[in-house]
Amino acid sequence: SSSTEEFRPLYHFTPESGWMNDPNGLIYLDGEYHLFYQHYPDSTVWGPMHWGHAVSTDLVNWESLPIALYPDSLGYIFSGSAVFDTENTSGLGTAENPPMVAIFTYHNAEEANTTSETFQSQAIAFSLDKGRTWEKYEGNPVLPNPGIRDFRDPKVSQITNTDGSKSWVMTLAVLDQINFYSSPDLKNWTLLSEFGKKIGAHGGVWECPDLLPFKSPSGEDKWVLLVSINPGGPQNGSATQYFIGDFINGEFTPDDTMIRWLDYGPDNYAGVTWSNLPSDQNRTLFIGWMSNWLYANVVPTKAWRSAMTIPRELSLFDIDGTLLLKSAPAKEMEKLRFEEFKVSKETSSLPSEAVEITAGVTDNSFLITISNELGEKLIISKENGLVSIDRRNAGKSDFNRDFAAMHSAPMSWEAKDIRIFLDASSIELFVNDGELAMTSVLFPTSPWKTVGISENLKSLKIFNLKK
Ligand code: FRU
Repeated sequence: SSSTEEFRPLYHFTPESGWMNDPNGLIYLDGEYHLFYQHYPDSTVWGPMHWGHAVSTDLVNWESLPIALYPDSLGYIFSGSAVFDTENTSGLGTAENPPMVAIFTYHNAEEANTTSETFQSQAIAFSLDKGRTWEKYEGNPVLPNPGIRDFRDPKVSQITNTDGSKSWVMTLAVLDQINFYSSPDLKNWTLLSEFGKKIGAHGGVWECPDLLPFKSPSGEDKWVLLVSINPGGPQNGSATQYFIGDFINGEFTPDDTMIRWLDYGPDNYAGVTWSNLPSDQNRTLFIGWMSNWLYANVVPTKAWRSAMTIPRELSLFDIDGTLLLKSAPAKEMEKLRFEEFKVSKETSSLPSEAVEITAGVTDNSFLITISNELGEKLIISKENGLVSIDRRNAGKSDFNRDFAAMHSAPMSWEAKDIRIFLDASSIELFVNDGELAMTSVLFPTSPWKTVGISENLKSLKIFNLKK
């Protein structure tokens, strides 16, 4: 690969060129998964935000489409969501051709440079041609700023009320709390409730929330509230926490005060879920931005900056009476396996930069060392109840002093199996199919060549992954 393409992932989504951060407007419609994303096409560092756009029929092969939303006189286009307004409640389409509606934050960068506090507001745009072309609503903003600097990242979903009627609910990050709003038509929004002032992790500003219905393993209806936070994650910098509880009459009540993290690695941020999935899919599908605000702007890629995680299916599981969220690789990932290597030796070679490694764990502990001929090493382990990814000597790290680190996560229950997804510049570790997940980016000077395993791993397999 040419030098400007060094570190380009083979099966993770990356923009063809330029800067990318959060996934936005995730929506499924007529066989297509849409992925919009925070994008600055003119540079590989953050700048005036646009919504980039890609579509996929299988969540793995992405087709890049023209930019969906450009900044305008009201501001940059910050993060947000998209819904399919089936009943044309907004009146922005017709009954025969209902609109796809994007709900996003306007960030007025000029005003942000002044003492004004009101430079972020919520706005909408609509598409009548499956997301190919967009028109901004003439009545924007639909939710003006009430005088709070951080007022952004609307995630809208349709909720069925107890009387069977439906309403739109917006989950919004407001400084260090979440506000819920409701609307009949996506244009007029009323505050329902506020959540989070005295609960959860507060080491940074709250961003990119998502409100999700689940069934618990015992069949109870539960709601999960995802809240990204920057900084203040379990590692250095940004991460996504979540709350489990009830959402009744527009109010979120958590079950307990425990702090929970969606992913314990340093590089899964601002992740949200797809809307409008057909009910027969019966799943909650998530994707995150595979970077960290600590160093996102300086990682050593050239033509583009950053990738998305693999798509993941979220569900609830129970450990000794405590509910937790599991993130398993989406089932589509299995279709990428095209060659299988059964490995019995302690050390074996990796067939390519794009592989999945699976193994069973005995004795609740393991050690895997992935290395190249330069002596660079990536070490993955579970020992004494801690799952770790050690990237201290895993390649380039001089661009940021916090990068070369070992990241650990507590896992008090038994590790039974692991799945590891390696790509040119990342690792995603799933223990027990996602009961614990860790995501980390890496920049090996030369591609990984060998994998060494400890005795307590059994039935090790390496799959060559091809798009
Ligand atoms: C999260 C975030 C959002 C904001 C966007 C700007 O990474 O800071 O809160 O909308 O990025 O690009």
